[in-house]
Parts: sequence; C-alpha cells; structure tokens
Amino acid sequence: MAPAHIGQATRGTTNTNRLRRVDRWIARHPVLRRCADPLVVDLGYGASGVTALELEARLRAARDDVEVLGLEIDPDRVSRARAQLDEVRAGRTAFSRAARVSFARGGFEVPVPGGRRPAVIRAFNVLRQYDETDVADAWSRMTSRLAPDGMLVEGTCDEIGRVSTWIEVGPDAAPRSLTVSLRLAGLDSPAIAAERLPKALIHRNVAGERVHDLLTMLDDEWRRAAPASAFGPVQRWRSALQAMSTRGAELGDRSRWRLGEFTVPWSAVAPA
Ligand SMILES: C[S@@+](CC[C@H](N)C(=O)[O-])C[C@H]1O[C@@H](n2cnc3c(N)ncnc32)[C@H](O)[C@@H]1O
Repeated sequence: MAPAHIGQATRGTTNTNRLRRVDRWIARHPVLRRCADPLVVDLGYGASGVTALELEARLRAARDDVEVLGLEIDPDRVSRARAQLDEVRAGRTAFSRAARVSFARGGFEVPVPGGRRPAVIRAFNVLRQYDETDVADAWSRMTSRLAPDGMLVEGTCDEIGRVSTWIEVGPDAAPRSLTVSLRLAGLDSPAIAAERLPKALIHRNVAGERVHDLLTMLDDEWRRAAPASAFGPVQRWRSALQAMSTRGAELGDRSRWRLGEFTVPWSAVAPA
C-alpha cells in the first residue's frame, strides 16, 4: 500500500530568491552550525524546486556538508523538480552540478530515507493555506521528526520576499521565537508585516493580543523615527528598534537589525 502523505496539495506559488531572508537566518543559526548531521528539509517547495536549490547553495557557505531534501505532497511537482535537478546535474543551470539536493514526495509526516532526523525543517508559505486549527497538529508532526537539537522554521512571505516573518519551533513542538524581516529600502510602514504573519498569528493581529501590541509599537516608533531617514532607512529602523528596546521590547541580536530584521521571544507574541 502506498504510504499516506499527511496534508493537502495547495497553490504552488514560488519564486527565485523569494526565501533569501530566511535562508540567511538559517545559515547563521547555531542549530545548523553545531548539528552532527546537517540534513535540512524544505517541506512544500512548490511548483519549482528552485528555493530548495537556493537553500542548499546558501547553507553550503556555512556548512559544506549540508544536504537538502525537498518534500512536496503534489507528485507532479516532485517530477518537475527532479527534471530540474537533471538540468542542474548536466551543468545547464547556475547551480552547482554537485548540489547536495534531492526531491521526494512527502507531507507533514516528513519521510526521510534511512530514518535520519533533520536538523532543520523549513516550511515556508505552506500553512498559510490551512486553517489556524491545523497548525498545532502540523507543528507536532513535523517536529517529532527532528533531531534532538533541531528546529522547524515555519513562516510566510510576500511573492518577492521583501516582507517575511517566521516562527522557530523546537523539537518539543513549542514555539521559541518570531522573526520579522523586511526590505527597508522603500518601506512605507513596517505594519505591512501583519499581512504576512505565520498562520498561528495572522488572525491575532487584533486589540488585546501581544502581536498586535508589538506591531503597533513598531509602527509608532518607525513613524517617530522619521527624522532619522535623512541618514537612510537602516538608520531609521535602528532608531525605531532602539526606542522599542528602551520601552522594554526584547529584540534579539542587534547585529541583525541592520538587515531589517529582529527576533522576539515567543512569550512576546503568544496568543492570549
Ligand atoms: C505556496 S507553495 C510554497 C512554495 C515555497 N515553499 C515558497 O515559499 O515559495 C506551498 C506548497 O506547499 C505544498 N504543501 C502543502 N501542504 C503540504 C504538506 N502537508 N506537505 C508537503 N507539501 C505541502 C503545496 O502543494 C504547495 O506546493
């Protein structure tokens, strides 16, 4: 009997370079840098395998032994990605012919040959098309497959990856943090992040919820920091985040601020 793949095929929208922000974050993360077996799963890679190939290329700079397994619930998308991989192996693309990437069919059960446990599972723009009530079960299924020190990175972004947010979830299925990552050049209001929150939070951007308070504070301080834009959007962003810190927000590693990014502990956004 064919194995059951848990989940449902949804729209396959994807794009070259769309996931560069989260890839960069994973590449710097201690989970990837310190793990014994750097197997990374790209779950729900979509209509093309390009984001899995990009993920491998970006992570290889941090771990040259990284391996990426792209999993898709839609069998036609697996065939298409494998055909793309043939092109890569033949040297007809910009990706390395030796890219350590493979593609297979799978769902939230995260089937991995040989029972290996991934250090990282990236599931981007996958749960967006599910119900909020499906999130806990999906997190729990995916994280149960992780290595003991692994992480699930579950998030959402716009079509071209300028607005992106993600949640880091531990192997115990408990969320640890929310990261917001925005292209600052041309940014009108960081409140735009509200439209691209992960499914666990997107319906919580209402008065009385912590994530709403956080995004309101961010927008207020961004507006107050307008005079700093004379020195560029990065300076304006830094001023806004500094003001939020002064007001008590914990915004993670400051070296990431210049990237248009910050990370808050889950307790700062957990649904009420
Ligand atoms: C919108 S695309 C996202 C593509 C890519 N990750 C990105 O962010 O550009 C979502 C993909 O997830 C796949 N998908 C949905 N549920 C899934 C599941 N449970 N397991 C594996 N793939 C799934 C869909 O078939 C679809 O191709």
